Amino acid sequence: MQKLLTGLQPSGALHLGNYFGALKPFLDLYQEYESTLLVVDYHALTTLKNPEDLRASIVSVVKDYLALGVDPKRVTIAQQSSVPEHTELAWVFETLVSVPFLMQAHAYKDKVAKGFEANAGLFNYPMLMASDILLYDTDVVPVGADQRQHVEYAREAAAKFNSAYGATFKEPKERVLKSAGVVPGTDGEKMSKSYGNTIPLFGSKDAIQKAVMSIVTDSEGDKPKNVYAIHTLFKTEGELEGLYSGNVGKYKALKEVLTEDIDAYFSSARERRESISDGDVVTVLKEGSEKARARASAKMADVRKKIGVTI
Ligand code: ADP
Ligand code: TRP
Repeated sequence: MQKLLTGLQPSGALHLGNYFGALKPFLDLYQEYESTLLVVDYHALTTLKNPEDLRASIVSVVKDYLALGVDPKRVTIAQQSSVPEHTELAWVFETLVSVPFLMQAHAYKDKVAKGFEANAGLFNYPMLMASDILLYDTDVVPVGADQRQHVEYAREAAAKFNSAYGATFKEPKERVLKSAGVVPGTDGEKMSKSYGNTIPLFGSKDAIQKAVMSIVTDSEGDKPKNVYAIHTLFKTEGELEGLYSGNVGKYKALKEVLTEDIDAYFSSARERRESISDGDVVTVLKEGSEKARARASAKMADVRKKIGVTI
């Protein structure tokens, strides 16, 4: 069976970009694969330095996965920091790739341009992500368009290792949902937990409304382009045509309909989420991380032999 894997950073509440970019494609595909979903907490540490917030986000992200219908019996849901082989393998990859190569990463450059600290973890981020993917012999990685280059980095790490030490890692492919691409945030930039421009998946209706009302309304033709772009995630262009042509210039009315559509789309998942306890999350992560660790340590034993540290 082919293997599917994706990861999300527990750096804040999940938002529409995470859902349509990564989670929905994962949910649509996971039954046909041997699937793994990672809570990449060591990645989140590159930007989040508040222990309380990190702990709360780890729990919250897993609740989100479960509420959206990920079945922990069919998907290994694992916490990255509970599987130390991830950071171990990242180190090995870091000895194989060059600094100028890592310097080309768009995600790194974008974060630094936005004023994030240029810490060495942020710089090496793609090699930790390569380990996440390659440790499990992953075939397919569902991600948003912004992560395409990071999956290329994983292929490159696999190729570098294989040519230095012999065939060991599979080269994975990304799966980017065409319709989602990059979901814009309320400011028109890429929606991101770390940019404060999100529309939450599991916010109250008030929180959704507040975020939707703050979407900037630059127009393209006679449509407010960001409102419309987000609306197309919930309704077809045909369904939206009458609405937008009947409400030209009426941004508030369009945003009210969008609020209703978002709220309705996630309402049953939101109800399900209420019944998931912190204890449920601990159990799911413990079982998933143990399963992941067994696979990762077998792979790492092979790597250690090949690089010459097993004596
Ligand atoms: P964030 O930028 O909010 O911190 P992550 O980096 O944890 O999100 O991304 C998790 C997944 O969600 C990745 O696959 C990423 O491509 C996807 N994703 C994040 N933001 C967007 C967006 N605005 N549009 C589409 N996909 C997105
Ligand atoms: N870098 C991804 C992001 O910011 C998150 C991530 C970490 C990931 N490891 C992964 C995604 C492995 C897919 C597979 O969105």
